[in-house]
Amino acid sequence: MNYILFGPPGAGKGTQAKKIVEKYNVVHLSTGDMFREAKKSDEKISALMAAGKLIPDETVVEMVQKRLKKDDVKNGFLLDGFPRTLNQAKALDEMLKKENIKLDAVFFISIPHEEAIKRIAGRRVCGCGASYHIHFLKSKIEGKCDLCGSDLIQRVDDKEETVMERLTVYDNQTKPLIDYYKTAGLIVNIDGAQDEKNVFEQIAATIKNKK
Ligand code: AP5
Ligand code: MG
Ligand code: ZN
Repeated sequence: MNYILFGPPGAGKGTQAKKIVEKYNVVHLSTGDMFREAKKSDEKISALMAAGKLIPDETVVEMVQKRLKKDDVKNGFLLDGFPRTLNQAKALDEMLKKENIKLDAVFFISIPHEEAIKRIAGRRVCGCGASYHIHFLKSKIEGKCDLCGSDLIQRVDDKEETVMERLTVYDNQTKPLIDYYKTAGLIVNIDGAQDEKNVFEQIAATIKNKK
């Protein structure tokens, strides 16, 4: 099974990806996570991310292309945060065609912008990859990771001005992809404003039907 998790910043893509990976044993491919790793050694990427801007298509496509060639994706993958522009979507179609891989669905997790802002403002993350929310998904000890005990921090792009920029970038460059995938008959609408468990149930119901 090969799926795309699509939706605005803060929709819950990363949160749902963790649950899907646990239950269905697919590989989670988050371009955001890959760039957060890459930015440690790349100033250009670091600056673009901190400003809430997109990384140039060529860079993104090249990185995903390399990743999709690895053996572990053969059992199925879950793309999170890619594609984000029409050019990226077209490049992905080309890649998949070459490898003879089919997409099963594009889950469009929608939430109102006000809700996205609330979620992002309260998100706290750990260097180990764990993610929390100060109200909706609290760690057992405030400010400390349940998994490794490290201090929780705020993502640099989660500051209010940057969040607004990310939402604008989403509206202008990413949202048009909904029509692209509707035309391809792949869009599955998910109401992301529900609680985590309910959102997961909506996704799992589709996966069950497709299997
Ligand atoms: P990326 O990391 O992809 O960020 P994003 O799309 O902005 O999405 P987020 O990670 O902020 O939100 P999410 O939907 O994963 O929400 P989460 O589950 O964490 O990209 C970052 C940057 O990398 C980009 O700005 C760009 O610079 C670059 N980049 C990445 N991909 C690129 C590409 N393809 N092309 C070009 N550039 C690219 O949830 C958010 C919070 O809400 C959490 O605290 C969570 O606990 C809470 N929460 C989740 N679900 C619920 C719920 N149902 N109820 C209540 N709270 C919830
Ligand atoms: Mg994410
Ligand atoms: Zn941790």
